[in-house]
Amino acid sequence: MKLSGEEIENLQTDSENHFWPHGRLAGQVPPIRSIKFVNHAKGVWVGDVKGNKWIDVLSGLWLKNVGYGREEIVEAVYSQMKEITFSPISTASPSTIRLSAKIASLSPDKQSRVYFVSGGSEAIETSLKMAKNYHLNNGDSNKWKIISRRGSYHGATHACMSLGGAVASATYNFGPPMPGNIHISQPNGCSIDGNCNLQCAYELDKVIEHEGASTVAAFIGEPISAAAGIHIPHPDYWPTIREICNKHNVLLICDEVITGFGRTGKMFATEHWGIIPDIYTIAKGLTSGYLPIGAAVASKKVSDAFLGDENLVFKHLITFGGNPASSAAGLANIKIIEEENIVENAANMGDYLFQKLQSLYKHDIVGDIRGGKGLIAAVELFKNIDTKEKFTKDSGLIDKLETLMTENQLLGRAADVIPIAPPLCINEREVDYLVDKLDLIISRLVKML
Ligand SMILES: Cc1ncc(COP(=O)(O)O)c(C=O)c1O
Repeated sequence: MKLSGEEIENLQTDSENHFWPHGRLAGQVPPIRSIKFVNHAKGVWVGDVKGNKWIDVLSGLWLKNVGYGREEIVEAVYSQMKEITFSPISTASPSTIRLSAKIASLSPDKQSRVYFVSGGSEAIETSLKMAKNYHLNNGDSNKWKIISRRGSYHGATHACMSLGGAVASATYNFGPPMPGNIHISQPNGCSIDGNCNLQCAYELDKVIEHEGASTVAAFIGEPISAAAGIHIPHPDYWPTIREICNKHNVLLICDEVITGFGRTGKMFATEHWGIIPDIYTIAKGLTSGYLPIGAAVASKKVSDAFLGDENLVFKHLITFGGNPASSAAGLANIKIIEEENIVENAANMGDYLFQKLQSLYKHDIVGDIRGGKGLIAAVELFKNIDTKEKFTKDSGLIDKLETLMTENQLLGRAADVIPIAPPLCINEREVDYLVDKLDLIISRLVKML
């Protein structure tokens, strides 16, 4: 696995000249923020080409639910690819059909119908178009506006980036956002001060009334938003949102791209609140990132609006949607999740992680630790924890944190909100290792700041 010095140097040169990493400068800026070259992995551990071993704090990118190196998935894909590698127009492979039935059987609405695409952004785009088309098919041609929440992340394509309302300033870099997209607040106040009057949920009611319910197609949100800082919503938030959507005939779209397939200690996060979304979206954890795939999963109510007359067809097609090899990966991945009680492990290890993280409050800069619902947690750093004053850019927090994470071989995101979402196969020993490393990193960081 270890590459020679010359091979690594060639990778570095080719990378600096030709590779464009996502979310970073086009060339690389060594040494801290340079890209690491990795070529092997197992469980929660990732190996680089120099032979170093890293613990993956973010499950790749919130997706390596069953962990790395699962041969069963590789073999399922290999077998599938020997049989057929693409289903031509007007056909479907048995794997794709079986995966749709499997997803429906796990869904809050068992009569769901699955519209496959190739990733999370496409799943969201599909859900938005499906919602607008649903109302059109029901004779409501004016219901096309979408309400979403500021600070969310729903993907990189034009409509998706608009939904977050300038998350990471992305929307402002690309001209006008999607027309008819209205933004409301996140449910992120109550987990800090304990006081919650559900204003963030009732804001939806007010905004729908202000816009006119006859113009609004759907409301979309992540059950727990990673981008907005992993705040666990008040227990009544989602049931209240569900009621408001029902009252106004507005579809509820839940984005389970991160939270789906066990991340929160339930197969789907909406189960925590007993709500049934009209449409929900999945991607990442569906194959644990072994191959790309995504889907918009429509409840019976929604998909029934696309039955009958030819005029009711959903005019939407994605070439790689439900690709046979990706579908085979999805089936093999779900089999592992079920047979190895991965969801239960996420719930138990999530509790253990959350309890261990509490020790980090001893550091002067740790102002909030959020989590307790599966393996999705956050440690928030403040310049002043009493006033909740944030670190400014010139504090150099991010570079310093990234340096320390690199030195300690922690793969994750260096930010004032440190997300912790390891693979769901993690064990107690690995949680201990991870939290001990974080403890060490934060104590060094305090001295450097
Ligand atoms: C909640 C959520 N929705 C949608 C997406 C978009 O998925 P993709 O990057 O596969 O297009 C992401 C990506 O991180 C996400 O976190």
